Amino acid sequence: MNNRKLLVSAIENGTVIDHIPCDRTNDVVTLLKLHLLTSTVMIGINLNSEKVGKKSIIKVADRYFTDEELNQLSVIAPDVTLCIIRNYEVVEKKRVEMPEELCNIVKCANPKCITNNEPMRTIFHVIDKHQGIMKCHYCEKEQRIKDAKLK
Ligand code: CTP
Ligand code: ZN
Repeated sequence: MNNRKLLVSAIENGTVIDHIPCDRTNDVVTLLKLHLLTSTVMIGINLNSEKVGKKSIIKVADRYFTDEELNQLSVIAPDVTLCIIRNYEVVEKKRVEMPEELCNIVKCANPKCITNNEPMRTIFHVIDKHQGIMKCHYCEKEQRIKDAKLK
């Protein structure tokens, strides 16, 4: 790793979330509740990337996430790369996987749905992972995951 090229400094231990679409940076912060952490979080937006043009990167020191937490990212940023850092080394790289169910992550697009009219959690069943289609557990409306608004 060439440190002269590193715009956001390396971390000793923690998680790097790489290849985030720039316009989804805030959503990643919200979903993983990074604003509530006490450890150091570094965010770089509009960084040049050979692979994807412009990207954002978030580095979270001293924090590892469960696969369940990380898989929530598939709703807003399915193509992110997660790097697990220990003692300055990348010890693992992984991708996120679309879960079978999305619990309380996004809102239902149907204004008449009970979840939009009562204080309750939303549940969606992912019925087509490939095309990114989910179905509301309550009103059964099918909707594209990428169009859904975060709850
Ligand atoms: N990284 C870090 N702290 C470290 C080691 C790595 O913040 N101690 C970050 C790097 O800045 C990079 C990511 O973790 O964003 C992955 O590191 P590495 O695999 O070395 O970089 P690349 O090969 O450039 O990764 P890719 O090909 O996925 O872009
Ligand atoms: Zn619904």
